[in-house]
Amino acid sequence: MAEQNYVELRHVNKKYKDFQASDDINFGIGKGKLIGLLGPSGSGKTTILRMLAGLEHADSGEIIIDGRVVNDVPASERGIGFVFQNYALFRYMTVYDNIAFGLDVKKWKKADIRRRVDELVELVGLKGFEKRYPNQLSGGQRQRVAFARALAPNPELLLLDEPFAAIDAKVRQELRSWLREMITRVGITSIFVTHDQDEAIEVADEIIITNHGHIEQAGTPIEIYSQPKTPFVTEFMGSPTRISNITSFHGYEELGEGLHAVVRPEHVSVTKKTEQSRFSSSVEEGVVERVMFRGREVELHVRVHDVLLVANRRLEEASITEGERVNVFIYQVFAFPAGENGTQNVNIVENANIETEKLFYI
Ligand SMILES: Nc1ncnc2c1ncn2[C@@H]1O[C@H](COP(=O)(O)OP(=O)(O)O)[C@@H](O)[C@H]1O
Ligand SMILES: [Mg+2]
Repeated sequence: MAEQNYVELRHVNKKYKDFQASDDINFGIGKGKLIGLLGPSGSGKTTILRMLAGLEHADSGEIIIDGRVVNDVPASERGIGFVFQNYALFRYMTVYDNIAFGLDVKKWKKADIRRRVDELVELVGLKGFEKRYPNQLSGGQRQRVAFARALAPNPELLLLDEPFAAIDAKVRQELRSWLREMITRVGITSIFVTHDQDEAIEVADEIIITNHGHIEQAGTPIEIYSQPKTPFVTEFMGSPTRISNITSFHGYEELGEGLHAVVRPEHVSVTKKTEQSRFSSSVEEGVVERVMFRGREVELHVRVHDVLLVANRRLEEASITEGERVNVFIYQVFAFPAGENGTQNVNIVENANIETEKLFYI
């Protein structure tokens, strides 16, 4: 791994009794990066954070921060700040005292504490709220205080474990962009745990996908989304539909047996029988089973060859009704050998008729 990694885990394993919570974890994080640790509940995300923080001991492997193996360094000496979902604020302390807490513990001088807390209150946009108690704040404001408290002692590494999980959707959305901006401004290396792919995609410079204690794939949000490397990642990202009979679809007849295909809504085009479509010679007929209004878009569930495909149409397009017969075209699928093993290759397969049409127009 590159030498400039600020944080590195090398062959880290952790068992709780017989349960392998971390299974040969390897990754490296560059200084100043914001990393999203993304995976289903129980996949070992919190365990990784707790080992980094020194709250849990690795059974084997090395945990390296700033070039130093920290496996045996106590939590308090690792220079790490935390924002945990249920690492609540102190209820009987004001915003000011909550943020000052860690500095008091470190025996900072009163004047220095005041300066630092003022700076942080300003940074997180809570000027004027210093005397309030946590129950006089909204959920979003509380998490901003938690963020300020974590940053107060100038940690070198910030760990955030599902910090917005308990906050409602609209505010969570705002907090995401807020957090991204804060971390960029402060320039602190950060690891952000979430089970929400949209959150990870929007916030992180790089995403690490966890599953059953191991890492499935690491990469930029675009890489993870558009080039999933394992069947698990393929079926975890986007809104996938599994197709086990892909060879019955036009343009995929040559794909061969024993393959599973996964298709995403953005690769499925649904047109009315009366509409022109570019690949009209190679569409499938489908029957619309559900039409759902999704704000800017309409989500359609269309049955084709016994598979229920999901597609989106823009509101401006002619409306489609439940029960309607429509034309369906699948631009591309992800294909991998059927089976339980998660290590097969995933290939991106374009509809063969796209090539034919390209030739035709040349
Ligand atoms: N202290 C513990 N004792 C026993 N099992 C644990 C302990 N902490 C976590 N686990 C188990 O380890 C697995 C991974 O947990 P965790 O790292 O919290 O996953 P995540 O954060 O991805 O939801 C889970 O199955 C969980 O039940
Ligand atoms: Mg967790």
